[in-house]
Amino acid sequence: MVPTKVFLWVCVMLLVPGSIATQNLGVNWGVIASHPLDPKIVVKMLKDNGIKKVKIFHAEPVVLDALAGSDLEVMVGIPNESLETLSQNYSAVQAWVKANITAYTGKKKVNFKYVLVGNEPFLTAYHGMYANFTLPAMKNVLKALTEAGHGKDIKVSSPLNGDVYMTTSYKPSDGIFRPDIADIVVQICDFLDKNNAAFVVNIYPFLNLYLFPGFPESYAFFDNNTFALDDNGVLYHNVLEANIDNLVAALKKTNHPDMPIIIGEVGWPTDGNIYATTKNAQRFYTGLLKRMASNQGTPLRPSSYPEVYVFSLLDEDQKSIDPGMFERHWGIFTFDGQPKFPMDLSGKGQNKLLVGAKDVQYMEKQWCVYNKDGSDQKDLNVKVAWACNNTDCTTLVPGASCSGMGIETNASVAFNMYYQIANQSKAACDFGGLAKIVKQDPSNGTCKFPIMIRTSESTSDSSLAPAPSTSSKSHSSSSSSSSSSSSTSSSLSHSPPFVFQIFLAIFTVWFA
Ligand SMILES: *[C@@H]1O[C@H](CO)[C@@H](O)[C@H](O)[C@H]1NC(C)=O
Ligand SMILES: *[C@@H]1O[C@H](CO)[C@@H](O)[C@H](O)[C@H]1NC(C)=O
Ligand SMILES: *[C@@H]1O[C@H](CO)[C@@H](O)[C@H](O)[C@H]1NC(C)=O
Ligand SMILES: *[C@@H]1O[C@H](CO)[C@@H](O)[C@H](O)[C@H]1NC(C)=O
Ligand SMILES: *[C@@H]1O[C@H](CO)[C@@H](O)[C@H](O)[C@H]1NC(C)=O
Ligand SMILES: *[C@@H]1O[C@H](CO)[C@@H](O)[C@H](O)[C@H]1NC(C)=O
Ligand SMILES: *[C@@H]1O[C@H](CO)[C@@H](O)[C@H](O)[C@H]1NC(C)=O
Ligand SMILES: *[C@@H]1O[C@H](CO)[C@@H](O)[C@H](O)[C@H]1NC(C)=O
Ligand SMILES: *[C@@H]1O[C@H](CO)[C@@H](O)[C@H](O)[C@H]1NC(C)=O
Repeated sequence: MVPTKVFLWVCVMLLVPGSIATQNLGVNWGVIASHPLDPKIVVKMLKDNGIKKVKIFHAEPVVLDALAGSDLEVMVGIPNESLETLSQNYSAVQAWVKANITAYTGKKKVNFKYVLVGNEPFLTAYHGMYANFTLPAMKNVLKALTEAGHGKDIKVSSPLNGDVYMTTSYKPSDGIFRPDIADIVVQICDFLDKNNAAFVVNIYPFLNLYLFPGFPESYAFFDNNTFALDDNGVLYHNVLEANIDNLVAALKKTNHPDMPIIIGEVGWPTDGNIYATTKNAQRFYTGLLKRMASNQGTPLRPSSYPEVYVFSLLDEDQKSIDPGMFERHWGIFTFDGQPKFPMDLSGKGQNKLLVGAKDVQYMEKQWCVYNKDGSDQKDLNVKVAWACNNTDCTTLVPGASCSGMGIETNASVAFNMYYQIANQSKAACDFGGLAKIVKQDPSNGTCKFPIMIRTSESTSDSSLAPAPSTSSKSHSSSSSSSSSSSSTSSSLSHSPPFVFQIFLAIFTVWFA
């Protein structure tokens, strides 16, 4: 008896292609980086780790070319800026579908599952500017997809932020849609129902902890049930699940009780804030992946756990830091595809380092650091501030990986980032004699000194980089030109979630 049972069980295990967690797991792949990884290397890395689903914010040809033939399931985004045109100009919609979907069929096939129209278009911070365009654009995209013969394979949705719903009390079961956009969201749900598509929602427990003083830390994670939100006897120990049920309740009230839900973004950053640490990220993902593997849903939707797209795959050093310094550190991998902490994507809790990116080509092993022997030390603070204005200093703020190490470390971190992002141009390591190039890695403990990836266009031609050795006046003028070009590239992707599950979080704290 017993051996037969064991044998059967083993067979079943062998037939299951991956655990529930892995099957329901996808990643967000953004590219707002000064030195993005080669998309082909990224695709290989996804496959090496058994990741089967990916969400991208733009239909970029190099990315789609790399995904072609890979069998990875793809959700492809259309930026908010296109919503107005796509809601009004059907030829433009047809052209979009032709160039970005139909072109990737046949030999160059990309396994598209969803076109995501806009990104968090009803974010409170946008003051309704996309409210009238989103649904018409979604309808046009579906129509054009259907006309082009993709209607059976590809669904249409729009990722909404968790701020589209709220609760009239503190209880998830009293969830409703935010009154100013409730009508439109319900019409969108009707549309999703008709094309059998899911409600895609982005939820950020990290931001609850970051934004609301007194938010119970354990309520952001899954492994400590000390805090409980009591909803008529149903206990919530985790704000993500309270959010999901808030949405389920709002869907029920508007006659969409069974609408599938996909978590389009959820994750935990690893640097740039006291709560953004690899330890906390590992804690969050370990808990989340175990919950996914159990495949037990939430109290109001117990049948299964929703599909989850992790935010994010890679760190992106050109993202806007308006939401906070952590914004460039959401990756479960570093910018160059190296795993940051142990994980088990199958949710079995056997954490080990994921498989890193292979065949990454780096620039020379050289760094730019503070030069103690520089003759004119008096403007060090100004030079560091200038460098930080023009590069990535997010590792220096309190709680971050290079914080609290003194002005000399501050200077080295800032000068090095400036130099590396400038493709190791000699002229970018001067700072009036206060910087020098070294061949030994200055990394110390948690404080890492990265070297950028060599991309096909990167070059050490000194004429490309602004020279930081001249007076601070000319520094500021070159700073404004370089920052305006980087903000153009940052408009090219994931919008920072400025406004979050405020109502749920606040009520949770105040009424608990
Ligand atoms: C969404 O819209 C906002 C406001 O216009 C913009 O800043 C952001 O970049 C957009 N995001 C995407 C992915 O289109
Ligand atoms: C509509 O889009 C098409 C294709 O992109 C373009 O040629 C045309 O000028 C647009 N029409 C208007 C009125 O903007
Ligand atoms: C295809 O998508 C890319 C990226 O969003 C966009 O730049 C391009 O204009 C799109 N093509 C058409 C014909 O709309
Ligand atoms: C959206 O349309 C409504 C009704 O036509 C109008 O009252 C409102 O001003 C529009 N909103 C925006 C932001 O254009
Ligand atoms: C759970 O969190 C509470 C409150 O933060 C803390 O006092 C307790 O030690 C934690 N329990 C475990 C097992 O970590
Ligand atoms: C940093 O940038 C801000 C805004 O552009 C500017 O006001 C400030 O003077 C700059 N600081 C330095 C030290 O360059
Ligand atoms: C180093 O930089 C951080 C971030 O700008 C700042 O908070 C800190 O005070 C700096 N330390 C010193 C000694 O200047
Ligand atoms: C590393 O950091 C420690 C503590 O901040 C410091 O004492 C030590 O000198 C540093 N080592 C190097 C090589 O900079
Ligand atoms: C560094 O090289 C990249 C190409 O990899 C290029 O896009 C960028 O403009 C270069 N940056 C500087 C400051 O020269």
